[in-house]
Amino acid sequence: MNKIQSLPPIFVTLLIQFIVYICLSFLRPELHDYLGYVLPLFWLMLVQGALSASITFLLRLPYWWVCIQVVAPPLLVLGMALDLPLWVFPVLLALLLMIFWNVVINRVPLYLTNNLTVDKLDDLLPKKAGLKVVDLGSGFGGTMRQLASKRSKQHFYGYETAPIPFLLSWLLAKLDRRSHTEFYFKSFWAIDLGKYDVVYCFLSPVPMPDLYAKAVGEMKPGSLFISNSFTVPNHKPNRTVTVHDARHTKLMIWKI
Ligand SMILES: C[S@@+](CC[C@H](N)C(=O)[O-])C[C@H]1O[C@@H](n2cnc3c(N)ncnc32)[C@H](O)[C@@H]1O
Repeated sequence: MNKIQSLPPIFVTLLIQFIVYICLSFLRPELHDYLGYVLPLFWLMLVQGALSASITFLLRLPYWWVCIQVVAPPLLVLGMALDLPLWVFPVLLALLLMIFWNVVINRVPLYLTNNLTVDKLDDLLPKKAGLKVVDLGSGFGGTMRQLASKRSKQHFYGYETAPIPFLLSWLLAKLDRRSHTEFYFKSFWAIDLGKYDVVYCFLSPVPMPDLYAKAVGEMKPGSLFISNSFTVPNHKPNRTVTVHDARHTKLMIWKI
């Protein structure tokens, strides 16, 4: 990871937009002279987005930041053109933050385990009654709910710190009376992994080394640590299973 990648991405991306905006402001008169007409604001913001995204890409920030950089400036102009009331922008930002909180704070985006991967997990998990399985960063809780629906004698838990995904997972678990799933609004760094027989996670490369060290330090011998897609540098998994989905998802399994 380079120095820039270790800075908070929200800070780096805003800085890139700011620098591009300043440069474009200086170049704007030259550009208009060259073109012979005044470039409409929307087109200017498309250029702003494209340049900011290119720099973000060159700095090797994760791809979702590149996408955000492209769409943010033209969307802002579009919002202004639609003459939306001013409160819409902070409300939208707050809603987005409440869903994608951990992209900003922990560099873990929100994407969901697909059905084929859940089926594969179902094949892999031990069958014994009373088994406790936890999803670290449980999103909307779908993975644990689907597994719970197939395994009535086992227990499924999730920890999530993005408010809206957590609330939905919690609500759906409460509404389903037969549910043997529990969701907590708590960072997985603050829990004891020793209580669980299987720890599942689908995060990003960033937390994996520290999370693996936590798992090894806390989990019982014989329990399983399963990571969807992201490996742990210098620690080869005991087993890697490929799912036959479009992205050839890899499930890496370490036996503690
Ligand atoms: C890639 S999503 C995976 C969602 C779900 N586990 C699934 O597989 O469908 C990662 C989730 O981890 C959450 N997350 C990231 N860091 C966290 C932390 N320290 N504590 C709890 N949740 C966290 C994010 O908010 C996000 O919802």
